[in-house]
Amino acid sequence: MVGDVVNPGERSGASGSGGRPRRRSTGQFGALGLYLADSRVEESVLSVLEAVEDELRASVASADPFVTEAARHLVEAGGKRFRPLLVALGAQFGDPARAQVVSAAVVVELTHLATLYHDDVMDEAPVRRGAPSANSRWTNSVAILIGDYLFARAADLAAALGTEAVRLQARTFARLVHGQLAETIGPRPGDDPVAHYLHVIAEKTGSLIATSARFGGLFSGAIPAHTEALAGYGETIGVAFQLSDDLLDIASDSTQSGKTPGTDLREGVPTLPVLYALASDDADVSSVRLREILATGPLTDDDLHAEALGLLRDSPALKRARETVRCYAEDARAQLAPLPDSPARRALESLCDHIADRTS
Ligand code: IPE
Ligand code: IPE
Ligand code: MG
Ligand code: MG
Repeated sequence: MVGDVVNPGERSGASGSGGRPRRRSTGQFGALGLYLADSRVEESVLSVLEAVEDELRASVASADPFVTEAARHLVEAGGKRFRPLLVALGAQFGDPARAQVVSAAVVVELTHLATLYHDDVMDEAPVRRGAPSANSRWTNSVAILIGDYLFARAADLAAALGTEAVRLQARTFARLVHGQLAETIGPRPGDDPVAHYLHVIAEKTGSLIATSARFGGLFSGAIPAHTEALAGYGETIGVAFQLSDDLLDIASDSTQSGKTPGTDLREGVPTLPVLYALASDDADVSSVRLREILATGPLTDDDLHAEALGLLRDSPALKRARETVRCYAEDARAQLAPLPDSPARRALESLCDHIADRTS
């Protein structure tokens, strides 16, 4: 259940947002810094999201009780439901009460869930959404197959929405796979590592977040220009979202992220602060030592891992990466320009503020 808790006056995105209005955080969406100033929009968004919860649980049920249990494992572990939220907010530019809006939101969350099952195998991650990952609770094979099952369920629901939904979901899925593969293979000789990384995150994360916002416009019957603006916003905020998630992997503890901090570093997945640190020519002792450790690749040694994490947390590279997140968040906000000034647009803008601020 999403719940209807409203915390009037709760501040979100404290530092760097001086002068902006005080926000209300809505239930679990407090974690996303969502600003819903209008009770009609708030009710509509909450009602879509409540229906999504019911449909999500129902849509993963199988005749095989083990499949149901393993597929519900991460559904029930929670998560921010960022992608369904974008569908619900995008739908405010059309008729959000259309039943297709809920189905579209379930399609994107199921697609996301499937990628999480697979991603935790690839990254050997032990914890997801504050619960044991499926690969650690069962096995890699179970996690991979349940991920496949979730993709199949998403495709089935998309079919009921029509050919365009199936095509968009399939193309999004293809981009996602390209992103995960490009990350796995790494930059080719001569490629700029930062450009490669930005390409990877657009493909693996921007793609589905763009489709989520697009689905909101499309299935609520918004005009095409508004749907395109929503998709552009989604693509860019998706990149900002992944960048800030990668920063949180370095800067947060597991209570904040629901994941094991430092996983990227341990697995040798180079994220923006690491790439900036490696490319810097800062000559201070800490920067030199950090480059020395990072150059060795995956940090499986606990002491070296802890040392690198400590040095990164205080590094100029982390600060620079935060500025890059802010640039993408501002770019996402600019892409909302074609949309009418409305509570829904302000809610989308509040997500930009939050993503820029959440790593500070
Ligand atoms: C995790 O996504 C993977 C990324 C793209 C960063 P979320 O941060 O949306 O994960 P949940 O759905 O809240 O668990
Ligand atoms: C998450 O990627 C999965 C996709 C975006 C497909 P990451 O490996 O970067 O994210 P976390 O940190 O595990 O959530
Ligand atoms: Mg991962
Ligand atoms: Mg990964």
